[in-house]
Amino acid sequence: MKTSDIRTYYERNTHLFLALGAGGRARAIRRAVWAAGVSTIEQALNYSSRLVLEEIARLRRPGEGLHIVDLGCGVGGSLFYLASQLDDVLRATGVTISPLQVRLAREHAARLGLGDRCRFIEADFLALPDLPPADVVFSIEAFIHAPAPERYFEQVARLIRAGGRLALCDDFLSARGVSKALTANERRWVGAFQAGWHAPGLSSVTQVTQMAGRHGFSVVSDRDLTPDLRLLNWPSRLMHALIGLGSAAWLPWAYWRSTVGSLALQQCLKAGLVTYRFVVFERL
Ligand SMILES: C[S@@+](CC[C@H](N)C(=O)[O-])C[C@H]1O[C@@H](n2cnc3c(N)ncnc32)[C@H](O)[C@@H]1O
Repeated sequence: MKTSDIRTYYERNTHLFLALGAGGRARAIRRAVWAAGVSTIEQALNYSSRLVLEEIARLRRPGEGLHIVDLGCGVGGSLFYLASQLDDVLRATGVTISPLQVRLAREHAARLGLGDRCRFIEADFLALPDLPPADVVFSIEAFIHAPAPERYFEQVARLIRAGGRLALCDDFLSARGVSKALTANERRWVGAFQAGWHAPGLSSVTQVTQMAGRHGFSVVSDRDLTPDLRLLNWPSRLMHALIGLGSAAWLPWAYWRSTVGSLALQQCLKAGLVTYRFVVFERL
């Protein structure tokens, strides 16, 4: 799978994701996290951004400006949330492969009066243009799209300053998920998830930690958010049948594949093959 396929996927489906997914109002194309203390859908959708905010708070010095970069920023929801929580010391850059998302994010930034503080550019996070040094870089449900995940760390290592932090919130294969002992059904679920979600970069935390280590990053925290997801409680046989219908074309093709990918991901999460994590690295 190539980056151009992922661009096409988001060009064709961003409006559908925003209209049909839960995240439209928070301008989020990601999952809701129902952690302790979260009581509304908006809080749940912003939970991963709130964890990024905690990393920013750790690095903040009074009066000093910070540059925050969201790699795979969607339509800007996380940066708008961060800007609403921080005063004008925040300068933020959102990077997305989708020109449509850049346009939607810029329009919304203008509506919020954030055009100066939050800028959005179309670029490939595996081949970043020159940007001002970043203090905090994060990707929420975007790293998994990288066809060459190690290149992601190579790029971030160039972008982030020493002592800066990188946060990845995404799905990762568990130890069992990477083992060879999967059943035929389990292999089908992982495959349908990767195909439907355009997720060639699906890796385990161990694999990602090793890649990151080769580019000067060490893990400072690793939190499992899987227990805070609300998984579908549909009967297994129904899930199997729907995942098996993955080739039906009665919904727009890529959107249908993505929906089947979501069902397959639910099975992977329930079976413990995949976990949803928030991993923070420090640039040495
Ligand atoms: C599931 S969406 C998540 C969007 C956003 N982080 C959020 O939480 O709402 C994945 C995002 O990754 C971006 N993306 C995927 N591959 C990319 C690449 N190679 N370079 C830049 N952005 C990429 C997509 O354009 C999209 O914005």
